[in-house]
Amino acid sequence: MIHRQEIANVLKSPTVGEDVTIMGWVRAWRGNRFMVLNDGSGAETLQVVVNGEDFDEETIRAIGFHACVGVTGELVESQGSGQAVEVVAKSITIHGAADLSEYPLQAKSQTMEFLRENAQFRMRTNTFSAVFRLRHALAYAVNKYFNDRNFYYLHTPIITGNDAEGAGEMFRVTTLDPASPPKDEDGNVDYSQDFFGKGTHLTVSGQLQAEIGALAMGKVYTFGPTFRAENSHTSRHLSEFWMIEPEIAFADIDNDQDLAEDFLKYLINYCLDNYRADLEFLDARIKQAEKNMKAELRRPMGLIEMLEFTVKDEFARITYTEAINLIQRSKPYKKKKFEFPVEWGTDLQAEHERWLVEKHFKKPVIVRDYPKSFKAFYMRLNDDNETVAAMDILFPYIGEMVGGSQREEREEVLRTRMKEMDVHEDELAWYLDLRKFGGCPHAGFGLGFERMVMYVTGMGNIRDVIPFPRAPKTADF
Ligand code: 4AD
Ligand code: MG
Repeated sequence: MIHRQEIANVLKSPTVGEDVTIMGWVRAWRGNRFMVLNDGSGAETLQVVVNGEDFDEETIRAIGFHACVGVTGELVESQGSGQAVEVVAKSITIHGAADLSEYPLQAKSQTMEFLRENAQFRMRTNTFSAVFRLRHALAYAVNKYFNDRNFYYLHTPIITGNDAEGAGEMFRVTTLDPASPPKDEDGNVDYSQDFFGKGTHLTVSGQLQAEIGALAMGKVYTFGPTFRAENSHTSRHLSEFWMIEPEIAFADIDNDQDLAEDFLKYLINYCLDNYRADLEFLDARIKQAEKNMKAELRRPMGLIEMLEFTVKDEFARITYTEAINLIQRSKPYKKKKFEFPVEWGTDLQAEHERWLVEKHFKKPVIVRDYPKSFKAFYMRLNDDNETVAAMDILFPYIGEMVGGSQREEREEVLRTRMKEMDVHEDELAWYLDLRKFGGCPHAGFGLGFERMVMYVTGMGNIRDVIPFPRAPKTADF
């Protein structure tokens, strides 16, 4: 049986004068005397004073960056500045020495790319342990938010036969032999002979199944991995990402926007209230990195200041049509600085979204009522017959954080939309049944979990906020 105290608990209520036993990894080893330990229980480290004369040479030699060490000693008020208490070592156990002669890179030169390929070292760094603690905090806050408001957590399938978004960017799931799959009369692969007796994929969204839940249990949410086989190499896209999708009965697009804004603010507030030390660390890290940057590349606000600002102020709310008008009157548009065209009927590109959010409104913006032509079949058609009751929430640095809509509850309108968009009815008979048998106005949205983690941590690349990123040509670990 191993007995140890977690550093976070020792620092929360220090019992000066008593012995403590702590275990962790060496973050710094100065002057063969001061050993700084972190055990992951928080951002904070605890300094251990090692008096050389009390220990044999072998032990002293084994202490070093990355080594795993256990220490028992008296907790005393610290002599030096920088920490309130420290431990004077009485006994030291080397759990795992770290042979730095084989360590691939020195502490100072660890690039983000190197660390990504070396997850076994990545989580030991201050930056990534803070990021992954905050990732946990956000996941917990998601479940707490919904649980406290009578939503039920619904587990929707990962393997599915339907393409919710109709974008066709799915990973096929099959056990057929790729070299010689069975063929039908027309020479196409015959998936009726496949494992599930039909063609299946990894899900792109749990929404359609969540609608079954909402129309029975009132308020539900899914929170699980989703998969998109788009060949995007941006800092905002993953092939495997986690999505939170609430779905609520008796709700329209206005209820949907209110829920989303309240939910996003709650998540940020939860981190501000409970993970201050990690946020302060990440805030300082960004300021340090920006020191040598040109003013226009620096963030207009510090990380914590920005998060506080986000929760205080109302999000801006505009329609797609208003967004197009604003962009067409903007300076970069007039000076032809945008790469992509801006006219009614085309989708907003990242550059336009960033202008709206970062330059014009300088805060999150909810854009609603997009043209039906580039939105999914299930979104409710507005009375103008041209736009749908969709909403996207755009955030500074991130772009699209949330995509949602009121769902088309009118069976005939939905059927027509499915035909127009070539969505096959035979796969979705059950979805139409939800309209035929006791349908009602309902709405929901999807929050890209990693994009939220990016915003809260200030990390610039989405691959750095998920422990084991999957992206085109990347599936390590
Ligand atoms: O806008 P999307 O595609 O919406 C849906 O899937 C709906 N079924 C949601 C719903 O109404 N229940 O995706 C939702 C969010 C986006 O706003 C974005 O934050 C995130 O998921 N997202 C991605 N995040 C990381 N990598 C990708 N490749 C992403 N694609 C979408
Ligand atoms: Mg979207």
